Amino acid sequence: MIKVSMSSLAIALGMVLGAMSSAQAAVDVEAAKALAKANDCLKCHAASKDKKGPSMQKIAAKYKGKADGQEKAIKNMTDGQMVKLTDGTEEKHKIIDTKDPKELKNMADWYLSH
Ligand code: HEC
Repeated sequence: MIKVSMSSLAIALGMVLGAMSSAQAAVDVEAAKALAKANDCLKCHAASKDKKGPSMQKIAAKYKGKADGQEKAIKNMTDGQMVKLTDGTEEKHKIIDTKDPKELKNMADWYLSH
């Protein structure tokens, strides 16, 4: 009895994970990279290495599996809040030079895909 319900749980979990990874496949990496370059994001964020800001992998790990991850990442790049750089100084976070929700979502999804 227990065995049966465990295996159906595993199947259900597999379906959820499958749906999540196909949702992530929609990231337009080239567009995100170009926008990041134009906005100097890469000066502070690299894929796996910390620069003045945390690596994209760290940011992705922080938001992995959180429903509001995309929204929080977008807020961070649009509202100019104070952030602490790895060298200990503080400054206002860069405000991205676009208001296009599609571009913002794509950028957030790209960061969170690392
Ligand atoms: C001068 C360096 C610098 C630049 C340029 C910069 N960032 Fe950041 N960014 C940071 C720092 C530092 C943090 C860490 C903030 C914290 O954890 O409090 C951060 C955090 C983030 C986060 C994670 C927010 C969170 O809630 O943990 C995202 C997403 C992000 N930046 C995106 C961008 C994008 C997109 C750009 C380009 C438009 C950009 N950053 C440009 C320094 C920078």
